[in-house]
Amino acid sequence: MSKITSIEGRVLFNSRGSKTIEVDVKSDNKFLGRVCAPSGASVGKYEATSFPSGGPEESLKILTQNSQKFIGLDSSDLKTIHETLKSLDNTNNYSVIGGALAFAVTIASMESASQSLEQPLFKTLSPNSEAKCPFPLGNILGGGAHAGPGTPDIQEILICATGSKTIENAIETNLAVHKELRKVLEKEDPNFTNGRGDEGGWAPKLENQKALEVSAKACENLGFTLGKEVSLGVDFASSTQWNEEKGKYIYDRAGFENSTGEQIDFAADIIDKFKLIYAEDAVHEEAFEDMAELTAKFPNTLVTGDDLTVTSKDILTKAIGIKACNAAILKVNQAGSLYDALEFADVANQNNVRLITSHRSGESTDSQISHIGIATKSKMLKVGVVGGERVAKLNELLRLSGHDFICGMAEI
Ligand code: PGA
Ligand code: ZN
Repeated sequence: MSKITSIEGRVLFNSRGSKTIEVDVKSDNKFLGRVCAPSGASVGKYEATSFPSGGPEESLKILTQNSQKFIGLDSSDLKTIHETLKSLDNTNNYSVIGGALAFAVTIASMESASQSLEQPLFKTLSPNSEAKCPFPLGNILGGGAHAGPGTPDIQEILICATGSKTIENAIETNLAVHKELRKVLEKEDPNFTNGRGDEGGWAPKLENQKALEVSAKACENLGFTLGKEVSLGVDFASSTQWNEEKGKYIYDRAGFENSTGEQIDFAADIIDKFKLIYAEDAVHEEAFEDMAELTAKFPNTLVTGDDLTVTSKDILTKAIGIKACNAAILKVNQAGSLYDALEFADVANQNNVRLITSHRSGESTDSQISHIGIATKSKMLKVGVVGGERVAKLNELLRLSGHDFICGMAEI
């Protein structure tokens, strides 16, 4: 058992250039766990608040004022560390201390414990289970809240090398599709600037259907059959389009509106036409019954909740009760602490809801979420295809597979 001997934080910047917090936890004066918190742009209504009203500086002040409460704790005792945070903030959305602080303190403690145990983080989190490698799922084309005017309303078109037998091949395949898509886009529009959205996907001036067609074309150009070597996914992030007052989904950029029924048909047509393996937030974050309709219709697609389930075990329990989704995104900072997120993972795994551990659009260059994806038996790791902060997570999977820590790919 190693004891926390120091805990300190600092304000740094994420990949979008916004301020965030990083925390160092040291055990036995030498085992350092260092974690920097990410943040989202299309944030779910019910997710943890990233920071209190005073921003990262206020979270940092709270940590500094309360650091003594953590000194002497066993750094591997996630529950006690979580409870210590809860003693500072008993709100259910971490509005007092900020979810980002809960994220950084809990993961940094477990990282520090792993250093002292001389084992990778995923083993500390899940000591007894067989480690499988999640399939990388990455953004190849972006719009919505992650890119500017003229880009698709749909937030993300994603690639997953579902036919790959190794992590190396899966990463290389995703990269090849991303690269080929640039060529297709340049052919389509000679003025395409090669601009990219927040998560590294291309951000062309195209409407939704065309964006999906060029993505499929890039796969076909490489000799791949959709649903075989590679599969496409979409994060509709539909809460961005949902207008509560009108009771409609407003597609500003494409210039149309969908009623609730039309939105279900819109998503179903895309899932069908492009044989999607993955469909995230196809309806808005409170439309549980509408999600259930899509889940019943597409048993072979991961009909996934993100803003719908917000890494909350209570909301997931509700979703399971009405079969609203067969898969769910796990973003630790949506929940707040790692302890909260692991509880959510247990509920998902006990109820055959497949997990996808995910980055945020504003990321750090850390790679602990790759370990969290393995430890939670996630089927996919949604971390992008290119960009230093995205590739850091993919490279960590390669490092682990190089050490024979992982035996084989997950079964989707
Ligand atoms: P966010 O988007 O990190 O900007 O919230 C990611 C997503 O919606 O999956
Ligand atoms: Zn999403």
